[in-house]
Amino acid sequence: MRVCAILTAAGLGERLGANVPKALVPVNGKALVAWAFENLAASGVVGHVIVTCPPGFEGPFAEALGIAPPGEPVLPVPCAPAETHAFTALPATPSAFVATLLQSAPPAHTGDTMCLAPDDVTNDFSLTQASAPSGPLIKSLPTADPVSSPQSRTSPLSEPGPSAELLVGGGTRQESVAAALAALPDDCEIVLVHDAARPFASPALVQSVVEAVAAGNPAVIPGIPVADTIKRLDHPLPAPVEPTAGGFPPQGAFVVGTEPRELLAAIQTPQGFRRDVLERAHKEAEGTATDDAALVEALGEPVLVIAGEPTARKITTPQDLAWAENLFSPI
Ligand code: CTP
Ligand code: MG
Repeated sequence: MRVCAILTAAGLGERLGANVPKALVPVNGKALVAWAFENLAASGVVGHVIVTCPPGFEGPFAEALGIAPPGEPVLPVPCAPAETHAFTALPATPSAFVATLLQSAPPAHTGDTMCLAPDDVTNDFSLTQASAPSGPLIKSLPTADPVSSPQSRTSPLSEPGPSAELLVGGGTRQESVAAALAALPDDCEIVLVHDAARPFASPALVQSVVEAVAAGNPAVIPGIPVADTIKRLDHPLPAPVEPTAGGFPPQGAFVVGTEPRELLAAIQTPQGFRRDVLERAHKEAEGTATDDAALVEALGEPVLVIAGEPTARKITTPQDLAWAENLFSPI
């Protein structure tokens, strides 16, 4: 059951206000899109990634990801020189080749690059790579011990490391996803849609979403409980709602009702779908939705919400970026 991911990164990041598209903004020295890609890759369950980028930025995105610009052949992501990195069995399938690597290499630790072995080591497919997140996020990654690590077990979903390609996105997120859907490889059966704006969604979350789709759910999305009381309004609040020199703006909206908080969830990505369901949802979409699950809901298909995670927070404003940088600060 092949899993492909659409990594949406074609937005400009107007609310962040950086001088480059948001996905190219660095956190701890690495672009958001590269963090997101590497966390998808480190899940070990994604076979191919299509990254959407804004028109005119193909070169910088290709460089940030270490992949070919659009129009060039899709190749496995090349592995960095072995002597600078430790090896881990994390998403690799067991083979004599992997065993040899493990015997000859030290265990992986924070910040190392993981080189993932191909399923069939007799083909001429060179090693592919995914860098492990460094800093506090390494906590969510398994150790390199091939026996005790739950990640080293053979899974029908395990992949040797994804191939990747860049695609120029559309004018809206929905159009970017639709363009990537049209470019999916024929053998892809499960599609993840993930925002580069959520670069620190963990590999474990990616695995959980994929496993829930593979178990028979047509649509699976991560969500976390909401902390605020949420009220339904009679019309949208005017922007900006921040206090100004003269206090809050006098205009507002009237409350129509209060939603029961325990039945609400703040929804994140990656969102996982059976390919045919997501394709139908986009084909029959009326209007614009802010996530793909909303389009599937409109079809009447069930959408399962599983536990999300605080680190899958979306980077929208400079405050969110400061939160992300803080993940790497010593405690
Ligand atoms: N996105 C996309 N194509 C678009 C617009 C957005 O692929 N035409 C992607 C963004 O790159 C982002 C994700 O969709 O990873 C969620 O969008 P958002 O957080 O709104 O990012 P931006 O649109 O870049 O930010 P802003 O709305 O502040 O301009
Ligand atoms: Mg946007």
